[in-house]
Amino acid sequence: MQPGRRPLIAGNWKMNGLKADSSARVRNLATLLRGAAGLPAEIVVCPPATQIAAVVEAAAGTPILVGGQDCHGQPKGAHTGDVSAPMLADLGCRYVIVGHSERRANHGEGDALVAAKAAAVRAAGLVPIICIGETAAERNAGQAVAVAGRQIDASVPAGTTPANTVIAYEPVWAIGTGRTPTIEEIAEMHAAIRARLVGRFGAPAAGVRVLYGGSMKPENAGPILQVADVDGGLIGGASLEAADFFAICRASGPEASAGD
Ligand code: PGA
Repeated sequence: MQPGRRPLIAGNWKMNGLKADSSARVRNLATLLRGAAGLPAEIVVCPPATQIAAVVEAAAGTPILVGGQDCHGQPKGAHTGDVSAPMLADLGCRYVIVGHSERRANHGEGDALVAAKAAAVRAAGLVPIICIGETAAERNAGQAVAVAGRQIDASVPAGTTPANTVIAYEPVWAIGTGRTPTIEEIAEMHAAIRARLVGRFGAPAAGVRVLYGGSMKPENAGPILQVADVDGGLIGGASLEAADFFAICRASGPEASAGD
């Protein structure tokens, strides 16, 4: 992490739990955070759409912000079953994950659609967390940096600034597998992503936060979050346990580097 870029720790709860579970998890997290005043990280949880209202209510008066996991690329219209960015804003969301690899793989979402969704999120006054990352085959073929660069070019809309966009680098092969890249590989990818952002959007884009995601846990969060170009994490499995998620939030703080 670098001065000037506030760390962001985001929990992606995916399709898990019911309202009561989610509300209880937020209350537990809020209790843990109350005992750790002064943590520098911005903390976001992204529940399933049906639980957002309950989670916003449970998070009221706490530092916990709420995000959606996906949205449509249009603000309204004949799109049965979809949820729009203005609807998420209406519920009290501040962020929306777009382009997660599970959406790209399971719903055939390509870069152009991801860029449209990110633009829709911005238009609703929210901040997209745009996910990119290579598959195992792409990494094994030595293409990881090239793939991430292409995704930055095609999935991130024009007009990107540190205030209106967050990037999450999530190697597909690391998601939910317990495997992570080495610290050196993470550093290489994040530096390349930041350089590509600056190349495309100019010097101010060096301030865009780039999160790491993929099997981040309390045990490995410290070293990953200390990498200079890593500005936080997008956490799946470990975000479902308030204590684990809290431990990762703590690992983003300055005292973590003192051997926490
Ligand atoms: P994981 O998921 O932490 O369970 O690997 C990360 C993600 O999919 O965002």
